[in-house]
Amino acid sequence: MPPTAAEEAERGDRPAAAFRTDEFRSGRPQIVGPDTPEFPFPIALAGQVQRGFGRGGKDLGCPTANLPDKSITPISSVAKTGVYYGYAQVIPPEDNTDLRQEDIQVLPMVMSLGWNPFYKNKCLTAEIHVMHDFKTDFYGFEMRALVLGYIRPELDYTSREALIEDIEVDKRVALNCLERPGYQACAKNPHFSLGSSLRVL
Ligand SMILES: Cc1cc2nc3c(=O)[nH]c(=O)nc-3n(C[C@H](O)[C@H](O)[C@H](O)COP(=O)(O)O)c2cc1C
Repeated sequence: MPPTAAEEAERGDRPAAAFRTDEFRSGRPQIVGPDTPEFPFPIALAGQVQRGFGRGGKDLGCPTANLPDKSITPISSVAKTGVYYGYAQVIPPEDNTDLRQEDIQVLPMVMSLGWNPFYKNKCLTAEIHVMHDFKTDFYGFEMRALVLGYIRPELDYTSREALIEDIEVDKRVALNCLERPGYQACAKNPHFSLGSSLRVL
C-alpha cells in the first residue's frame, strides 16, 4: 500500500517518482477506474477557498481553488497524493451579487493533492480546478467537493508546457469518467446544496 498523503506529510519526505515521467505520459488512457465509485470514494470535502500562489491561472491557464489545510484531512488521511476527479460547487454568501446562477451549479472538477513537484512546494495542498468559465473569482466563498476517483500520480515535469498538456488530458479523462451513470448520480449527493434552481452541468 502506498503511503497516504498525510503519512507523507508527517514523515516530511517527498516520494521519489517510481517511474519516469516521459514513460508515464505516453499513451495515457482516456478513461480510468471502475464504472461506479469504489472505496474510499466518494470523499466529501468542504472549505473556504483560499488564495494559492496564483500560478494555476497565470502560468498554467488553469485557475485552482485551494482548500484550507484542515479541510483536506478527509482525503489526505485515506488517499495517496495525485490527481483526482469529481464534482464541486461554490456556495456564495447570501449577499453575493457576483456569481451567476450557472456558476453555483454542481460542476465537474479535477483536483491535485500533493506537493506540486514541478514547483517544489513545501506544503501539502489540495487544489481544485472547476471545469467552468467563471467570470469572477470567489476567494473566501465556501467550496464543496465530492472526490470520486483517482486519475494519476503527481509528476515532476521538465517543462511547463508538458504540465499544461497533461492537465488538459486530465480534464478530458475526468469528463469521460464522469459521464458514466454511476458517477453522474453523485452530482445529486446531499453534500451539495441542491435548491430547485440548481442543475448538474
Ligand atoms: C489537474 C491538475 C493536475 C496537476 N498535476 C500536477 C503535477 O503532476 N505536478 C505538479 O507539480 N503540479 C501539478 N498540478 C498542480 C499545479 O502545479 C498547481 O495547481 C499550480 O501550481 C497552481 O498552484 P497555486 O494556485 O498554488 O499557484 C496539477 C494541477 C491540476 C489542477
